[in-house]
Amino acid sequence: MRITIDEQKLPKSGALVVAALKGGKLLDTAKQLDKASKGAISKAIKASRFDGGKSQWLDILAPAGIGADRILLGGLGEAKDLKSKAVEDFGGAALQHLVKCGLKTIAIACDPIPGAKGDPAVNAASLAYGARLASYRFDKYRTTLKPNEKPSVTAVSVLAQTPAAARRHFKALDAIADGVFMTRDLVSEPANVLYPDSMAQQCKGLSKLGVKVEVLNEARMEKLGMGALLGVGQGSRRESRMVVMRWQGAGARTKPVAFVGKGVTFDTGGISLKPGPGMEMMKWDMGGAGTVIGLMKALAGRKAKVNAIGVVGLVENMPDGNAQRPGDIVTSMSGQTIEILNTDAEGRLVLADALWYTQDRFKPQFMVNLATLTGAMVIALGHENAGLFSNNDELAQRLFEAGGEVDEGVWRMPLSDAYDKMINCAIADMKNIGGRDAGSITAAQFLQRYVNKVPWAHLDIAGVAWADKGKPTVPKGGTGWGVRLLDRLVANHYEGGK
Ligand code: BES
Ligand code: MN
Ligand code: ZN
Repeated sequence: MRITIDEQKLPKSGALVVAALKGGKLLDTAKQLDKASKGAISKAIKASRFDGGKSQWLDILAPAGIGADRILLGGLGEAKDLKSKAVEDFGGAALQHLVKCGLKTIAIACDPIPGAKGDPAVNAASLAYGARLASYRFDKYRTTLKPNEKPSVTAVSVLAQTPAAARRHFKALDAIADGVFMTRDLVSEPANVLYPDSMAQQCKGLSKLGVKVEVLNEARMEKLGMGALLGVGQGSRRESRMVVMRWQGAGARTKPVAFVGKGVTFDTGGISLKPGPGMEMMKWDMGGAGTVIGLMKALAGRKAKVNAIGVVGLVENMPDGNAQRPGDIVTSMSGQTIEILNTDAEGRLVLADALWYTQDRFKPQFMVNLATLTGAMVIALGHENAGLFSNNDELAQRLFEAGGEVDEGVWRMPLSDAYDKMINCAIADMKNIGGRDAGSITAAQFLQRYVNKVPWAHLDIAGVAWADKGKPTVPKGGTGWGVRLLDRLVANHYEGGK
């Protein structure tokens, strides 16, 4: 779908989206159309319950006296509540409303909003960004889509007062959307297509944007002593991989920031086999890695002035004659030993070596890891927030604020010595499960044992990586959760030598 920002010239055909504020006050373009159509809009409002409230939509077909074939009037709600996220949602919802309407083109009028603060150029860019995020589809495997199931819209034009300035703002947002889309694609791909090596090849594709990509194979990881990660992958016919991505957008002496992702391309549970129903969901157990990869794409795509490292541990957790057994003891790269009491608690094993390797090699300013780590996280927070665990209040606060800004919420969970004790073990340095109680926290305590003094945060994204219900800018399926949040974290605090 082509999304452009153009000057405010009313279209001669297609759909035209205009807006009203709460109370039914029409913005300029809507007012103008109402006049030209001899009151078609006011009449439609009178014939309905539309009052300009947020998320209200009114379709007006074939109005006389104007070029457009169809008007969609959307409610913005109260002007004072209009943050950029609400403007994005308006663009996204408008597109979702019209995408299969039968027309090929949509224009969205971006008018001045009386009583709202925001810069008009930023508003126009946010509208375009919202529409772009909403336009995502994963239908490459649908070979028999009926005509009415396919989008009819092929082009969206946002009509802006200052198109050149709006386009400048949109450029970075468009690059972020590219990253979000990459994550959504990776999360949506089935595990027969996306496995450790094919995922590593996807990472290689980022070199086109100037990202340096290194792929570690099993022999290399063996030499490095990554027994925790390798143990998880040993029951799979697919070789494990670790990928290191480096974006150098700041001076060579600026310490990098680092992002680490769990990339279990399929999690059967291993010998501690998961139950059958719902197991297909475990194709998205690589969501943490998917977010790290999409984030690197976003940062490189918008040429962020930061040095960023992305590290992903890629394995497939399968039961097999060579699979790891409950009771096995493995030695991690850190030298610490782990008794595997449940082969389904595999994500922490992958991250143990990935985190250790990252801090050891890159000495980052901070490390943030992402993982679909525990089912218990979904029980605690549902699908509204990701769990945040951190050893550093400043980093935790910055993540919390960035999450609020982009509507990817995080909620902080506790860490403490008492929880840490729950993974002590009689015959090794630790065991890989702490029991049913506080399952997400003991998993986080496990990770913390592989982090030294570096400021670190762990985001448990088990509840947010996939959505069964769509939102205006997030269609159902792989959400791409975290790309926008971490991009915003970087933009707010770690760019331009701050
Ligand atoms: N990948 C799962 C966690 C998960 C569950 C993610 C549901 C998304 C949705 C993880 O590897 C796992 O199996 N965790 C176990 C840990 C337990 C064995 C301590 C869990 O949560 O049951
Ligand atoms: Mn598991
Ligand atoms: Zn898993």
